[in-house]
Amino acid sequence: KTFKEVFKDDFYVGAALNKYQIMGADSQSIAIVEKQFNSITPENYMKASNIHPEKDRYDFRVADKYVAFGLANNMKIIGHTLVWHIQLPEWFFVDDEGNQIGKDELIARMKEHITTIVSRYKGKVKGWDVVNEALNEDGSYRESKFYEILGKDYIKLAFQFAHEADPDAELYYNDYTMYKPKKRDSVVRMIKELRAEGVRIDGVGMQAHYILSEKDSIFGNIEKSIMAFASAGVKVMVTELDISVLPFPEENQGADISGNAEYSKLLNPYTEGLPEDVRLRADNYYIDLFNLFVKYSDTIDRVTFWGVTDNQSWKNNWPVKGRTDYPLLFDRNYQAKPVVNRIFEVMEH
Ligand code: G3I
Repeated sequence: KTFKEVFKDDFYVGAALNKYQIMGADSQSIAIVEKQFNSITPENYMKASNIHPEKDRYDFRVADKYVAFGLANNMKIIGHTLVWHIQLPEWFFVDDEGNQIGKDELIARMKEHITTIVSRYKGKVKGWDVVNEALNEDGSYRESKFYEILGKDYIKLAFQFAHEADPDAELYYNDYTMYKPKKRDSVVRMIKELRAEGVRIDGVGMQAHYILSEKDSIFGNIEKSIMAFASAGVKVMVTELDISVLPFPEENQGADISGNAEYSKLLNPYTEGLPEDVRLRADNYYIDLFNLFVKYSDTIDRVTFWGVTDNQSWKNNWPVKGRTDYPLLFDRNYQAKPVVNRIFEVMEH
């Protein structure tokens, strides 16, 4: 059994691909992807800093291969992401003299950026994460440069430009901690406002970067958000699923802990493998999530893991670098974890 077969009547199941996988340097991961999944997302190589590093220069090498791979394997190809305040090159907001650009110039640059990328993959990329992470956890707008210069209108403009470039593509708003009530309310409001203005938005992406120790405090709210987005009339994509089992430090985020033995022991306790009790709790979290996703399969269009195997997950480097995390369903030896079969049994109830 495979993910794509087991859930074929429910939702697409996908994975984010990194550069090594896309460029053919990681055949073991790619074998898993071809066998298990029917959708793909590019982890990093459609983001502005990679695909549009200079104002007059695009670099489509990795993105082109990514799309070709998806087409060759008949997958639902996702584009990620057109407007995000991170992985955005310096030039985006400055003119030739080094001064911050104004409204008109930013609109022109956004239009050029979005149109160029979306048109190139027109009819091939089926859904775009148009705007990523525009909201704070309290539901207010994030004070990004986009917001500073254009106010919340930048969101509407991004969706309009993407729609003009490929009228058939699905367009999504994607964000993390989408289970938080205030963020949920703001997303619902955003969907309504966009639609009231005649702007196309097909779905929302709930990133789903979960942390094992937080399960009990957030699980009910995950379901409430799925219900709220369904009522707002959009599809829900579970876009960046992984479950970190390691302690989440409040301080020193971004630090590299590999050189500090004491800190390592505290924040990276499972270098020799996962203790049975932790593994079971992580397994149960995944099973409960898939039960939930199946319950809402009328609304949920896709479930995408943020990576393929544990050893290549971004979670090994966030919120501190140099960790051994176990967030995904394929292990460091490229084997499906035993819980995968338990997840497939979800379907037999
Ligand atoms: O490729 C370079 C490498 O050449 C260099 O030596 C190395 C040194 O730091 O950096 C490498 O680039 C890193 C890149 O990942 C590829 O591994 C960047 O530093 C690093 O910042 C980048 O992190 C990515 C992150 O977005 C950027 O914020 C993660 O891989 C990626 O998983 C993560 O994905 C985001 C989603 O797009 C949006 N939602 C949240 C999610 C997690 O942050």
